[in-house]
Amino acid sequence: MFIIAANWKMNGDPAFAAEYAEKLGAHLAQKNNSQNSHEVVVFPPAPLLPLLKCNGFKKGGQDCYHKEYGPFTGEISPFMLKDAGAEYVILGHSERREAGETSELVAAKAANAYKAGLKTIICVGEKKGEDFETVVFEQLKKSVPFAASEANTVIAYEPVWAIGTGITPTIADIEQRQTIIAGKTKLQVLYGGSVKPENAGEISSVASVNGLLIGGASLSVDSFLSIINNIS
Ligand code: PGA
Repeated sequence: MFIIAANWKMNGDPAFAAEYAEKLGAHLAQKNNSQNSHEVVVFPPAPLLPLLKCNGFKKGGQDCYHKEYGPFTGEISPFMLKDAGAEYVILGHSERREAGETSELVAAKAANAYKAGLKTIICVGEKKGEDFETVVFEQLKKSVPFAASEANTVIAYEPVWAIGTGITPTIADIEQRQTIIAGKTKLQVLYGGSVKPENAGEISSVASVNGLLIGGASLSVDSFLSIINNIS
């Protein structure tokens, strides 16, 4: 199923979450009368998870810890995300990798997320000037646990230089890179990096794009709804 994911990052408050859930739910209820082929997943900051009322969409956490419970001040267990209503968790986002998260840690977090029954979205992507294959193959090799399967893991290809910049790879590059990742992992592959209403239709029509991970443009529910509408 094509996944349309909204990553709010460190944004939002209870009023924002309430309005977002109401508008998104109403829109999806109307759309689902004719079509039910998309899985919409919203990733709010963890404190907003219990407040985000899911109507026709799912929700997830933006990160989790690699241990179940214990003396780990400030960390969040995937079991706690699950209790707060999450069905998914994003792992290894480039903003976390930039803050020092290693691929080995991402794999340990993913293995713990599986135990909690969460589906993981494992992010990979090269920085500007880096070689796609060298960086992404290494990230895939070390970040995706042996126990990963289509049932519990989705990969998100997000070139770091495309995140929040308004710049995207060419459609031909997206097609080729997503195909390479799918071939290596045998997993569903999302694209992320400057997806907006104007380019969502074209990017989502690429055969090897099995979903979109959207940051900035998901922060306005209206722009997120236009993205959903522009995907056929
Ligand atoms: P962006 O972010 O859509 O703002 O480029 C994507 C992401 O960080 O997942």
